[in-house]
Amino acid sequence: MKNQTSNINKDRIPKHVAIIMDGNGRWAKKNGLLRTIGHSNGVKSVREVVEASVELGVSFLTLYAFSNENWKRPKTEVNALLELLVKSLNKELPTFQENNIQLQTIGETQNLPKRCHKILRETIEKTANNDGLKLVLALSYSSKLEILNSVKTLAQKVAEKIISPEDITESVFSNELYTAEHPDPDLLIRTSGEHRISNFLLWQIAYAELYFSPKLWPDFTKEDFFEAILDYQNRERRFGKTAEQLKN
Ligand code: IPE
Ligand code: IPE
Ligand code: MG
Repeated sequence: MKNQTSNINKDRIPKHVAIIMDGNGRWAKKNGLLRTIGHSNGVKSVREVVEASVELGVSFLTLYAFSNENWKRPKTEVNALLELLVKSLNKELPTFQENNIQLQTIGETQNLPKRCHKILRETIEKTANNDGLKLVLALSYSSKLEILNSVKTLAQKVAEKIISPEDITESVFSNELYTAEHPDPDLLIRTSGEHRISNFLLWQIAYAELYFSPKLWPDFTKEDFFEAILDYQNRERRFGKTAEQLKN
C-alpha cells in the first residue's frame, strides 16, 4: 500500500485522538497463542500510533489500556497486563525523552498495585517538562465513575454553599473530570470491528468523529492510523450547524 502521509492535510490534524485498543485476545486465538501474548504483541502497535502522532503533530493521544471493568478478567491475565505496563514504561522512557513526549494518566489509578504506581509516578515526573505530544493512558478507567465523581464533588460544593446549582455549567463540570486539562477528542478510533464505546470518555466524545477499524489491535499499523486521519479529514464537522452556514 502506498504511503498515506503525503495525502494528509497538515493544517487539519486532529488535536486530540483517542483509541480503544481492542482485539489482542482474538489476535492471539487466531494465531494459536495465549491471550497474554496477544497483549505483548499489542505494544508494537502502541509504538506505531505514538510515532505517527509525533510525526503528524497531534497534541493529545489518549489510549484506553485498561478499563475498570477489565478487573473482572482472570487474575493471571490482569497480572500479565499490569506487568506489561511496568515493563513497557521502563523500556520506553528514553523514547519519551527523545521525542519530547509527556506521559499522563486518567482513571482510578489508585486501584493499581504499588509497582505500577512507582513506575507511573517516575515516568510522569521525568517527562513533566516535555511539551510535545501528551500521551494519556487510561488505566482502571471508567467514564461513568469519572462522571459520578464529578457530580459528587459538585454536590458537596453546593451542600457547603461554595457554589449554587446555577453555577454548574458545562465547563465547571468538565473541570472536575480527569480530563480537565485536555481538549475533547476530535477523533475516536476503535479497532477489532466492535462498534461500541465500552465506558470510555462518554462526556468528552459528545462531538468526536468515530472511526471503526476491522483490524485487531496487534495488526494496527502507522499506515492504518494515517488512514483514519485521512478519513477524519474528509468529514464535515457541523456541530449542529448546516453545511451552508459552515461555508460562510
Ligand atoms: C484489548 O484486547 C486489550 C484490553 C482490553 C486490555 P482484548 O484483550 O479485549 O482482546 P479481545 O477483545 O478479547 O480480542
Ligand atoms: C475496552 O475493551 C477496554 C480497553 C480497550 C482497555 P474491552 O475488550 O474490555 O471491551 P468490551 O468488554 O468488549 O466492551
Ligand atoms: Mg476486547
